[in-house]
Amino acid sequence: MQQHPGKQRSALPARAVRLVCGTIAAALLAGCAQIAPVSGWEPPAWPPVAGVSLVVADDTPTEAGSAGAVVADGSAATGGQDLGFVERRLRNDRARLQARYVEIPGWHRFNVRMSELLRGAISGTGTAISPEVFPVSAGLSHGGCVPGSASRPAAQVLADPGTGPLDGTGTGTAFVCDITTAFGAIVGVTVRTVVGGPEGVTSDTAVTLYADVSTGEVHESGELWSAEAPGQLWTRAVELLRRQAGGLSAAPVAAPDEAQLELARRALESASFTESGASIVLPAGIVAPELAGLGVESTESATTVEVGGEPLTAWLSPFGAAMQAGRGTPFVGMPAWRADQPVDCSLLACAAVTYDDGPSEHTARLLDTLRAEQSAATFFMIGSAVRAFPELAQRVAAEGHGIGSHTMTHPDLTTISPEKARAEVVDVEALLARVTGRTVATYRPPYGAVNERVLSAVGQPAILWSIDTLDWKKPGREELVQRSVGVATPGDIILFHDLHPETVDSADVVLRGLRDRGFTLVTVEQLFGGQVPGGRVTRR
Ligand code: NI
Repeated sequence: MQQHPGKQRSALPARAVRLVCGTIAAALLAGCAQIAPVSGWEPPAWPPVAGVSLVVADDTPTEAGSAGAVVADGSAATGGQDLGFVERRLRNDRARLQARYVEIPGWHRFNVRMSELLRGAISGTGTAISPEVFPVSAGLSHGGCVPGSASRPAAQVLADPGTGPLDGTGTGTAFVCDITTAFGAIVGVTVRTVVGGPEGVTSDTAVTLYADVSTGEVHESGELWSAEAPGQLWTRAVELLRRQAGGLSAAPVAAPDEAQLELARRALESASFTESGASIVLPAGIVAPELAGLGVESTESATTVEVGGEPLTAWLSPFGAAMQAGRGTPFVGMPAWRADQPVDCSLLACAAVTYDDGPSEHTARLLDTLRAEQSAATFFMIGSAVRAFPELAQRVAAEGHGIGSHTMTHPDLTTISPEKARAEVVDVEALLARVTGRTVATYRPPYGAVNERVLSAVGQPAILWSIDTLDWKKPGREELVQRSVGVATPGDIILFHDLHPETVDSADVVLRGLRDRGFTLVTVEQLFGGQVPGGRVTRR
């Protein structure tokens, strides 16, 4: 309990004043009557306001979104990968935009909504985005959310090179997320878009997406509350402010106008949940005749309403109530990461790493590295190797990586009959279908040797490459990195072989190096948005 401010007949004080009129009616009445006695006066029978308390703090007016839903779960301090999110990062200097966000493996609805929010931020820049990459060691391999970014001051979000546009002027767009909830089957991700110009922050919006990872359903922060909640919140706040300002009236507060109701709605959008209930911050600017009569034309600072128990339950929507019921239970975990998570290569700088001649005894290690780096790859497999390591072919398929045929016996297809060439390709595809259940309909001709006769006989896209690392010559780790990370451009298809231990040993540095430059690593199919063109394919 803090001291009572006493009667105030001016705008509400800027110094820290806490009025906590109890979480139960008795405490409220006793506390207020005791601290602010008026001689010769009998306190009226105020209606109980159980579960509602009010805090008037000396905060500078809160910027929109700065009171994002920070949840006291201790689960929020993460970029996302350790919870199982797919981490993304998009830097585009031409559009003066940086975006850090997450996706949920395989959960379309959440990912589509995230993508809509991102597209909204991009369209706000007024610049058509084409993917950009950056010099070696640009430091972009850390993607995903930024802990604390929902509640940090907007100007800081813009100025921080980890979240804002990277020219350091604070002019541009920051699209960031903060994982603010993780319990039961629910993860909550607060997505914030901050826009700034030479004159400072011009826009700051936030919304929290709540995903139920057991069903794939997605709700937004606005859906947590019943239709009546904004009006009731506003009314309670005015009742409490009236009392704080010395008002003695117990008359019902007149209904808010639409602008005041909107103020309450926005406050509910960014409510944060605590162990005991919810904390809702109404920005400055509460206007009511009941307050004006007491000399408060408009509140000058933020008003925090804390609500728990029955009132909170009454204000929550059925979804909100169900979500609250899960509090205190550990997060059940995310669907497993998969390489075939859709990627928009018109926004992100995509490249496709490819591995030929496997699977081999080194492939399992490579798959571990790909998973750790959240990187997709495409494997062009030889028939004999699939027969030798069927479980590895199965794992490649199960984890969502791309698979293509690299022929049964690795011949130069241009030196054999078109019929034989076709059989070399499609026999592996039939074998892969049996082993993995996957339909395979692209191939990589051994040695890159393909001609019109072969192309027409096979009738499938022949996936070649735009970067040959010549890894089979064992050039050494540094040279391998230079030949891939050092030269890649968006749209490249990069050739490696998972037959060679040196290639697999270097994969972590290569993948990390590419991601660090801003690349997102995708399968060949993803590189073309699922529509691989026919004929010879060397790059996007
Ligand atoms: Ni080969």
